[in-house]
Amino acid sequence: MLIRANKAAPNEVNTPLLAVCLYRDESAPDSLNGAADDALCGDFSGKMGETAMLYPKDAIAAERLMLIGLGDRASFTHEKLRRTTATVAKKARSLKLSEAAFALPIPETSDAEEAALAAVEGAALGLYRFTRHKTGEEDDRELEAFDLILDESADEEAASRGAETGAKLAAATILARDLANEPSNTGTPEYLAKTARGISDRYGMGITVLDRAGIKEEGLTGLATVGRSALNEPRFIALEHRKGGDAAPVVIVGKAVTFDSGGISIKPSGGMEDMKFDMSGGAAVLGAMEAVGSLDLPINVVALVPSTENLPGGDAFKPGDVLRMHSGKTVEIISTDAEGRLILADALSYARRYEPSAVVDCATLTGACVVALGNHASGLMGNNEDLIAEVQTAGETAGERAWPLPLFDEYTEQIKSDTADIKNSARPAGALTAGAFLKEFADYPWAHLDIAGTAYGKKGNAYTAKGATGTPARTLVRLLMGRAESRAGA
Ligand code: BES
Ligand code: MN
Ligand code: ZN
Repeated sequence: MLIRANKAAPNEVNTPLLAVCLYRDESAPDSLNGAADDALCGDFSGKMGETAMLYPKDAIAAERLMLIGLGDRASFTHEKLRRTTATVAKKARSLKLSEAAFALPIPETSDAEEAALAAVEGAALGLYRFTRHKTGEEDDRELEAFDLILDESADEEAASRGAETGAKLAAATILARDLANEPSNTGTPEYLAKTARGISDRYGMGITVLDRAGIKEEGLTGLATVGRSALNEPRFIALEHRKGGDAAPVVIVGKAVTFDSGGISIKPSGGMEDMKFDMSGGAAVLGAMEAVGSLDLPINVVALVPSTENLPGGDAFKPGDVLRMHSGKTVEIISTDAEGRLILADALSYARRYEPSAVVDCATLTGACVVALGNHASGLMGNNEDLIAEVQTAGETAGERAWPLPLFDEYTEQIKSDTADIKNSARPAGALTAGAFLKEFADYPWAHLDIAGTAYGKKGNAYTAKGATGTPARTLVRLLMGRAESRAGA
């Protein structure tokens, strides 16, 4: 989709559809030459999400005038802006239009760059569909151009810059969604490795992919053990973007269980199809690396993606088994369904070799996190208050909310084992005992996002279709953009 940002008078924009936003109880701009007045005499109040389609004939140059409500001016946010442009773009597509124009409103606390960024994210993500496996729908008509119309006082260059960044952030999210939506029969660990090689080729990143033999040789026992009974071989993917001189890198880690049956501790079959999404953390990390590359961020970033299926079988690991992990710690298996923390623990201990300034992992780790926060926030834990705050802010900026949860010493007490150093499952507080487990393997500033409730869903919103959301790809990129900026400022 072509995206442009230009100054223009709304009444002069020659387009099949011009969308204009109205705040609650405010009148339409004079520049519409009265084209909106009919709708405004009663039926349209400007509440958030309200829409009306008008056919203004000769009053303005556009064929259609779409009014869209923003609610109260003082409470307008980038998140509302994303939802607004998503609604407009989807409407234009459903009318089979090839282009649409949108008069960009700038929230009071924002600027043209950030507003354009959010507007483009919303439009591009709102149009997302996963049609790969739908016969005949591959080439459905898509919107070809989306124009941001700026008023006289706006900074056009800043808006163009924001639009470009927004497109890259959306592309990162779309890559993450595509990977996560892919069924597990095709979306295998090797498929993720292939995607990582593509990113490496496009942006000149370093890449290491370990196969089953390499994983064993490296001593990644958790990953090797979970993947032992799977015919689709596990992979350990390390992708390195080195554009930050000799500064310590940020390491991002994503759980990528391409299908989680639970293993011998098998899950109930109802809804098990959703466990193809259990690689959403890895998908988000690869999506984030796509944006790190396309934005050419001037920092060092390493992505680690441990990937495997979790299946029962004659060779499967079993409850009661004890593993000596990559770090040297021993773990008693209570449930083979608590597999995510095993592969993440190895990735976290592998990360030590980079002497990282920070490590952030993301994982569809626990059903307990969904019980706690539902689908409205990722669980956020860690061992460093500053990093936790940084991740929370990045999530807020991205429109991907994350909420802090505690890692009290008592949760660490709960995972003590009679047989081994620690055990891989303990209740109650399943999200926090999982966090406490990971904490045992992180000896650097570390934060953990439990995305079990946010990575995919049945409902979605204006810019998130059913299925994979791509969360937290943009959170990770925003965090890294922030680091790049403070490095430039230092
Ligand atoms: N992949 C699941 C977590 C999950 C559950 C993600 C629901 C999305 C929706 C994870 O591997 C798992 O099975 N966790 C167990 C842990 C338990 C055995 C300690 C869980 O949450 O029940
Ligand atoms: Mn599991
Ligand atoms: Zn899992």
